[in-house]
Amino acid sequence: MNKKGFPKAFFITGTDTGVGKTVVSAILAKGLGAAYWKPVQSGLDGETDTETVQSLTALPENHFLPESYRLRNPLSPHLAAKEDGLHISLETIGLPKGLSPFPHLIVEGAGGLMVPLNERHFMIDLMERLHLPVILVARSGLGTINHTLLSLEMVRRHGLHVWGVVMNGPLNPGNREAITHFGKTEVLAEIEPVTPLNSEIVSTLFNRFF
Ligand SMILES: Nc1ncnc2c1ncn2[C@@H]1O[C@H](COP(=O)(O)OP(=O)(O)OP(=O)(O)O)[C@@H](O)[C@H]1O
Ligand SMILES: [Mg+2]
Repeated sequence: MNKKGFPKAFFITGTDTGVGKTVVSAILAKGLGAAYWKPVQSGLDGETDTETVQSLTALPENHFLPESYRLRNPLSPHLAAKEDGLHISLETIGLPKGLSPFPHLIVEGAGGLMVPLNERHFMIDLMERLHLPVILVARSGLGTINHTLLSLEMVRRHGLHVWGVVMNGPLNPGNREAITHFGKTEVLAEIEPVTPLNSEIVSTLFNRFF
């Protein structure tokens, strides 16, 4: 896939928490020279996702937009917000206005699609509001077909365009074929396990995997 093929702004979601959304965001941010935004961050101990992408890309600070919600505890956002005495309101989370100096904007979700943000709304509702094309990050191994097809169905039900799936983990041609066929989508990349993960290596990964 060539660099120009990516939409101006897109939303990176996943089939689950911990599937590699932040790693994929870092590879794409570095390769595309993109801006990065994590609107809802749950968990402030240790590195936040924004800090991880900063360190994995070594991009200047102005590539990083401030989070709309920074929640102390690493919980589902609706619970983390409650513990902080906050209420997440979708209306307060908007795409940055005006011209970004960068060619692309990458927005990373929290967890998967049906993660509650408050007592009424889920991550997918925020995605619907932002209305960006979606990249779905999925594990490569056993169980991924079910999770990926369910997630694709939900994204489409909300009227959003699926840009493609990124599979993360050891190569699995059978699962790739199933996701492409049943999911009626493109697998944009298969990211294999990389060690160590640091900014020098991450800067080579866009060309290697995309
Ligand atoms: N291809 C890979 N090679 C090596 N390590 C990886 C790879 N993909 C993910 N990891 C590691 O797995 C862990 C989870 O990945 P990551 O933080 O990107 O998931 P996430 O989907 O962003 O999670 P969250 O829902 O918390 O935002 C991290 O420690 C990350 O460094
Ligand atoms: Mg993440």
